[in-house]
Amino acid sequence: MYRSIVRGVGHYVPKRVVRNSELEALMDTSDTWIRERTGIEERRFSDLATETTSAMGVQATRLALERARMEASEIDLIVFATLSPDYYFPGPGVQVQQALGLPEIGAIDIRNQCSGFVYALSVADQFIKTGMYRTVLVIGSELHSGGLDLTDRGRAVSVIFGDGAGAVIVQRAGEGEADRGILSTHLHSQGEHAEELALLEPSTRHWVHKIVAEQSAENTGYYPYMNGNFVFKHAVTRFIEVIEEAFTYNNLDVSQLDLLVPHQANLRISQFIQQSMGLGDHQVFNNIQKYGNTTAASIPIALSEAWEQGRVKPGQLVCLAAFGSGFTWASALIRW
Ligand code: UT7
Repeated sequence: MYRSIVRGVGHYVPKRVVRNSELEALMDTSDTWIRERTGIEERRFSDLATETTSAMGVQATRLALERARMEASEIDLIVFATLSPDYYFPGPGVQVQQALGLPEIGAIDIRNQCSGFVYALSVADQFIKTGMYRTVLVIGSELHSGGLDLTDRGRAVSVIFGDGAGAVIVQRAGEGEADRGILSTHLHSQGEHAEELALLEPSTRHWVHKIVAEQSAENTGYYPYMNGNFVFKHAVTRFIEVIEEAFTYNNLDVSQLDLLVPHQANLRISQFIQQSMGLGDHQVFNNIQKYGNTTAASIPIALSEAWEQGRVKPGQLVCLAAFGSGFTWASALIRW
C-alpha cells in the first residue's frame, strides 16, 4: 500500500469582515456575550455573487497548488466537502473540475458537515493507498451567511457561523518518504442525534412548494437549528475520544503531538480539549476568533494558517479532529 502526503495547503476567506459589533446592530446580542461564550471576535461574509462555495474552493485550491509547486493538470480526483453547496444538486465538485479546466476526472461530494473535511481526506487517502489515484484535491468550503437568521430569533446560531474555504493537495509518497504522510483516519457517526444540529428544509420531506404554501412566522425549518448545550456536551467527549483513538491505533502517545488542529466550533471546546489532554498552547491551533465556525472549511483554513506561521513542518506529528452535525466525528493523524 502507498502512503498519502499533503503536498500543499491553501485557503480563501471573503473580503468582507463582520465584527461582533455589526451583529449587535441586527439582533439582541453583544460583543461580550459572543466572545465569552465562543471566543469569536469577527467572521467573514461572502459577496453572494462572486464568493460562492465553489468559487472560494477554487481560490483555495489555486493557493494550495502554488505552494505545492504543482499544476492543476496533475490532479486525478476532486473530493469536495460542504454543507452549503451552490446548488441543491449537483454538488460543487464538478464546478471545480470545470473552473480549473481539468480533463473529465471524477468529482466526489462529501456531506458530513463539520467533520466533512476529515471524511474527505479519508476518502482521498484510501484512493491513494490502493494505488487507484496519485494526486487528489480535497476541498472544504462553506457559505453560511446567506442562509442565517440574522434576527433575535436566530441569534444562538447566527453569531457563530462564517464563510470561507480551504484546500489540500494529497499525493502518493515518493521513494524515501515512507515514514511520512497520513498515518490513519478514524470516522464515526450517531444518527439518533441527526436533528440536534440540522437544516431541515427544503428537503425531500418538505419541498419548497410546501414551505411556500404553509408560509407562516413559525415555519423556520429553512434556518439552521442547533441544540447548543447538547451539541457542546457531545463535542467535548467525542473530540477527545477520537484523538485518543488515533494515537492508540498508531502506538503513539499524545505527548508526542506537535500540533492539534481541531475543527473550530467554539474556542471553549478547543480549550476544554487542550486542558483535559494536558496539551500546551504551542500544541493547539485556533483561529475561530477571526473566522467563526466555517464547518467543513475550518480545519483546512486553520491548517493553511498554521503552515504559513511555520507551525507545521516536515516530520512533525499533526492531528486533525472534528465533531458536528449528524452527529459525525473524525480524526486524522499525519506525519507531516
Ligand atoms: O460546529 C459543529 C458543532 N457545534 C458546536 O460544537 C457548538 C456547540 N455549542 C456551543 O458552542 C454553545 O452551546 C453556544 C455558543 C451555541 C451557546 O452557548 P451556551 O453557553 O451553551 O449558551 P446557551 O445556549 O445556554 O444560552 C445562554 C443564554 C440564554 O439566555 P437565558 O435563557 O440564560 O436567559 C440564551 O437565550 O444566552 C442567550 N443567548 C444569547 N445572548 C446573547 C443565546 N444566544 C445569544 C446571543 N447573544 N447570540
